Amino acid sequence: MDNQGDYDLSTPIDPKGLRQGLTSYGDPHFSLFLRKVFLKAAGYGEDALSRPIVGIVNTSSGFNPCHGNIAQILEALKRGIQLHGGLAIDFPTISLHESFASPTSMFLRNLMAMDTEEMIKAQPVDVVVAIGGCDKTVPAQLMGAISANKPVLSLVTGPMMPGRFKGERIGACTDCRSHWAAYRAGTVEVEDIVGINEELAPTVGTCGVMGTASTMACLTVALGLMPFNGAAAPAVSSARMRVAEETGALAVAVSANIETRRPQQILSRESFLNAMIVLQAIGGSTNAVVHLMAIINRHPETNGTLDLKSFDDIGRRVPLLVDLKPSGENYMHDFHNAGGMLALLHTLRPLLHLNALTITGNTLETELNTKPFKPFPFSHQLIRPLSNPIYPNSALVTLYGNLAPNGAILKAAASKDRTLLEHEGPAVVFENTTDLALRIDSEDLPVTKDSVLVLKSIGPIGNPGMPEAGVIPIPRKVKGANDLLRLSDGRMSGTAGGTIVLHISPESGIVDSPFGIVEDGDMIRLSLSERKLELKVGDEEIAARVRRREELLKVEGKVVHRGRVVGSRKRGYRGLYEMHVNQAEEGADFDFLTAKGDDALYG
Ligand code: FES
Ligand code: MG
Repeated sequence: MDNQGDYDLSTPIDPKGLRQGLTSYGDPHFSLFLRKVFLKAAGYGEDALSRPIVGIVNTSSGFNPCHGNIAQILEALKRGIQLHGGLAIDFPTISLHESFASPTSMFLRNLMAMDTEEMIKAQPVDVVVAIGGCDKTVPAQLMGAISANKPVLSLVTGPMMPGRFKGERIGACTDCRSHWAAYRAGTVEVEDIVGINEELAPTVGTCGVMGTASTMACLTVALGLMPFNGAAAPAVSSARMRVAEETGALAVAVSANIETRRPQQILSRESFLNAMIVLQAIGGSTNAVVHLMAIINRHPETNGTLDLKSFDDIGRRVPLLVDLKPSGENYMHDFHNAGGMLALLHTLRPLLHLNALTITGNTLETELNTKPFKPFPFSHQLIRPLSNPIYPNSALVTLYGNLAPNGAILKAAASKDRTLLEHEGPAVVFENTTDLALRIDSEDLPVTKDSVLVLKSIGPIGNPGMPEAGVIPIPRKVKGANDLLRLSDGRMSGTAGGTIVLHISPESGIVDSPFGIVEDGDMIRLSLSERKLELKVGDEEIAARVRRREELLKVEGKVVHRGRVVGSRKRGYRGLYEMHVNQAEEGADFDFLTAKGDDALYG
């Protein structure tokens, strides 16, 4: 194939594959000529360059073992693309791993979303396969891809295998926390904690429990952007490679129908409701609430139409069905063996919006009809039928009240002392994480089993980046207690548990936040049944304390901008972040990146 037509100056160029977006030099034929020069430098011939291009977002990094299988995945994915007549070209973006992203990976999620959006827009790709996995990567990629609005499929690296220590199955990272807590409490010896450290993450891949990574993978299947078996196949399995190959084939099929498969066309209110249904049924990570709100608000049609109440309304009629840590006992590997998302979606069928579209162009109903699933005893053990749930409903609830006028989240299913779900007690307040570290184990801490631990300054603006510090450790002084009611404006890891109220909004980093003025000894009431979070302090006193706080911030020389308490150094990404991150219930996205945020940068 010589493609001489590409140089015929009198004929318009068909804007597909390499031939799209040729505006840079004013002369599209010259732009195409130059593109070919440089891709020929990479060894591509005319035949390859005439194909639909499937761009692959490659997020491998030496600092990201959750993505440590990308080389093998990439080979299988490219095979799938090229066997079906497409041209596969991968390109890098930022890669985020939970342990190697300071101050938090959440702080960098929006940067990754911007990187992903702009690279998808910039390059001549017809369809995109985004390879993600570790917690913040999949939401960042979906946020960016919806805004870029080129057809996208998600391919995750897949969960790691569980390990074993002295016969007991263990896995990152629910067991990281429980074993560390046992070591801190003196019930695990130092030699054992060394051995446990070797086995908690015995292979590459994402955390093997229903943490944020697994949750987001399951929600992406529910959104119709990933094959049914794409969420749970282990990172180191042949099944994972076959998922990659299948995704490649699907991407080429999508390239023949670009105009009807853009994410803003595929995704709808119904798809997002389906994702919320799955979130409740899997007892998924609380982080997914923030991510899903950010994703919803990137879409022009759903922006501002769904909110935290939507999660709660759905929770009231959707039971928890999947028995995985941290809410249950098993690992993602078991979920895969039990039938994974295909089995779960068949189980949830009566509750789902079956008319939602998927990336195949078919509705969810058609996809499920063509892929039946017959339950077997093990699948029913892991993925319970609707008639025999693990938890009847409302695994994840939304709370409101004068302490959280814009909402807060509680994973009721992860509570370790259910009496705390209807509780009133005096606050023990930590102003920030430094204060917490200094005093949590102090003998003078005025804490009892009835206390309500309050941690401020870990919201989106607060730290910044909403660290997963919401699981405030149980103070040594009340060592006998296995749970206390704990409140914060931050997040917790999807792999953690306890009676933990999170994402309180407005966060204490907003000057007039009621949460920002809570003091030691104030009575706080949580009622799960009423979905209430109340500060038993009168409105006038709250207003007076806000005024005093404003004065104090001035005296302390703190910088307040647009009603936010921000850091004193405003340069770079951190400055942009503190000025423009929105609140948890909006998704902690940048206000200027949401679908209606056109003017926010200058507001
Ligand atoms: Fe990457 Fe848990 S650290 S998924
Ligand atoms: Mg995590």
